[in-house]
Amino acid sequence: MAVSDWKKSVVYQIYPKSFNDTTGNGQGDINGIIEKLDYLKTLGVDYLWLTPVYRSPMNDNGYDISDYYEINPDFGTKEDFKRLLDEAHARGIKIMSDIVINHTSTEHQWFIESRQSTDSKYRDYYIWKDGDGDQPPTNWESKFGGSAWQKDEITGQYYLRLFDVTQADLNWENDSVRQDIFDMINYWIDFGMDGFRFDVINLISKGDYKNSDDIGKEFYTDGPRVHEFLHEMNRSTFGDKEGFMTVGEMSSTTLEHCIKYTKPERQELNSVFNFHHLKVDYKDGEKWSEQPYDFLELKKILFRWQVGIEAGGGWNAIFWCNHDQPRVVSRFGDDTTEEARVRSGKMLAIALHFLQGTPYIYQGEEIGMTNLYFNSIDRYRDVESLNAYSIMKERGISDSQAIRILSDKSRDNARSPVQWDGSAHAGFTTGTPWIDLADNYQHINVEQALADKHSIFYTYQRLIELRHELDVMTYGKVVPLLEEHPQLFAYERQLDEELVIVIANFSGQMVEAPADVNIDGEVLINNYDSYSGKFEPYQAIAVKK
Ligand code: GLC
Repeated sequence: MAVSDWKKSVVYQIYPKSFNDTTGNGQGDINGIIEKLDYLKTLGVDYLWLTPVYRSPMNDNGYDISDYYEINPDFGTKEDFKRLLDEAHARGIKIMSDIVINHTSTEHQWFIESRQSTDSKYRDYYIWKDGDGDQPPTNWESKFGGSAWQKDEITGQYYLRLFDVTQADLNWENDSVRQDIFDMINYWIDFGMDGFRFDVINLISKGDYKNSDDIGKEFYTDGPRVHEFLHEMNRSTFGDKEGFMTVGEMSSTTLEHCIKYTKPERQELNSVFNFHHLKVDYKDGEKWSEQPYDFLELKKILFRWQVGIEAGGGWNAIFWCNHDQPRVVSRFGDDTTEEARVRSGKMLAIALHFLQGTPYIYQGEEIGMTNLYFNSIDRYRDVESLNAYSIMKERGISDSQAIRILSDKSRDNARSPVQWDGSAHAGFTTGTPWIDLADNYQHINVEQALADKHSIFYTYQRLIELRHELDVMTYGKVVPLLEEHPQLFAYERQLDEELVIVIANFSGQMVEAPADVNIDGEVLINNYDSYSGKFEPYQAIAVKK
């Protein structure tokens, strides 16, 4: 059943490069997505979010756009995209595309002209500053490592690049930049898109360009004019389109800002991603570190956002995985045995999908795909991971430790091809895949998952059905339970007379039922056949009172 209320819908994220290849060039394509629409229909999702498929040199796999109006030929053509929209719509599935407007590729025509001279019409489309003597203008660091400023020989000035050197930040203070961006967004609305995901959208308003005590974040995160810019974008583009879905990716944001971004009367966005709950395995805030995840902190953060966003009248996007995160079953679950993988994969799905907000499923999550455990640097492709590796080596970290850290944290963990079946390259391509697959594809794949009624896939399918059926899953108030419990993640959802209780055992041990929680009632979902009065390893149950 597809739903018309965007709040009740579930989104499936596709990373096209790794989804399904129909040409044999080793990279996925738009026709490959069309080929799998029936599978996605079986899963039951309402929207597909495609990461960028526009023209791009692909230094950051499409997040470096060189032409917003063209499709990258590696992925197909505009006609293919049109057909994808039509075929998806015929199945009741909607399409969201990714909009990357904090920066463009340095191969974008605007940047090519901008860099030519200080008099260029496009000079002010980007952020150019003089150096401080022979140093960059400020001490800000790129999120991918190194200085955030790149000196350009033609004029001797520096441009700002918060990500890769080939991703130059746009100057949103310039009215023509905003107008050109809004025109582009309207073009894709007219093309037939049903929604957008906005990349790092809370970084578009830069404040003062001053030295920082940290890496510079405080000057450009949730910056001074960000709400004004988003409101203007809403009014100039999608704002009056009934049911149009928008989600903003918010980097290092705050709860207060996220309420503002999503409160309907402010007319900015529908919903937001934040990442605080996915930093619980960073040591002192450092991603490239070895640190077991902190379960109590994970609960604390998720609940703070659940309760806070609801109280403030905003709306969350909820997720464990995306193309920038390791696989959740390897991260907060257990992939050391097949039984633990399946149990914990289902448990994580149940724990998340009863929360408030729009749930996102990342390709392969629904079959419990794992991290890759690559054992050498030449198997990695991601620009962030390669930079991190060099920096770790410069800091004296041994090769084996750097490889261990990458194998836990690298974005490539999410970017290996979807495992469709047990044949060569998991049925992803007839050519050579652009990145290696996990060794386990012969037993972890879609074909197996569909054939086994007890697979993780059917847990996801059931959770999507439940979200469509039960209003309490969308609109119910969230009440955290057992907040200090070291193994159980538990909460209630309440809507009028309806009450749902969810309890998930995040540990591989048997756990006694706490005296103050009563789970009698109609079982909505349980990843074991029964409940013995104790919670089995990775058991998760939701009951309706
Ligand atoms: C977002 C994307 C990520 C990309 C970055 C720069 O965080 O999700 O993949 O590298 O923005 O565009």
